[in-house]
Amino acid sequence: MIGRLNHVAIAVPDLDAAAAQYRDMLGADVGAPQDEPDHGVTVIFITLPNTKIELLYPLGDASPIKGFLEKNPAGGIHHICYEVDDILAARDRLAAAGARVLGTGEPKIGAHGKPVLFLHPKDFTGTLVELEQV
Ligand code: CO
Repeated sequence: MIGRLNHVAIAVPDLDAAAAQYRDMLGADVGAPQDEPDHGVTVIFITLPNTKIELLYPLGDASPIKGFLEKNPAGGIHHICYEVDDILAARDRLAAAGARVLGTGEPKIGAHGKPVLFLHPKDFTGTLVELEQV
């Protein structure tokens, strides 16, 4: 059911420093910061030949990244995103198998303008999983 790894998201305490590290030290193709108010994050996408890295920084007081950075002050991997062809079919199949879909269970529009859902990390070996319909 799942397809390509779309991105790995890393929460960072200093967005400029992380972007500079990927650009200058690692020589990666680093995009411009984008505010995503619906998701409570500012995002920078880093395009690699086979996937993307998404740097996440809190936006607003209710940001879901805030608590993560309090527990992981140096930053850390926050989620991984797999591509699916049909997000509603994927959701229904996972829910029938007992996996918990976060939020209302309805897809939101993600940072790439495509529908996304998040799955409970406790149901996926401690890893927050995002599904993106491509
Ligand atoms: Co993501």
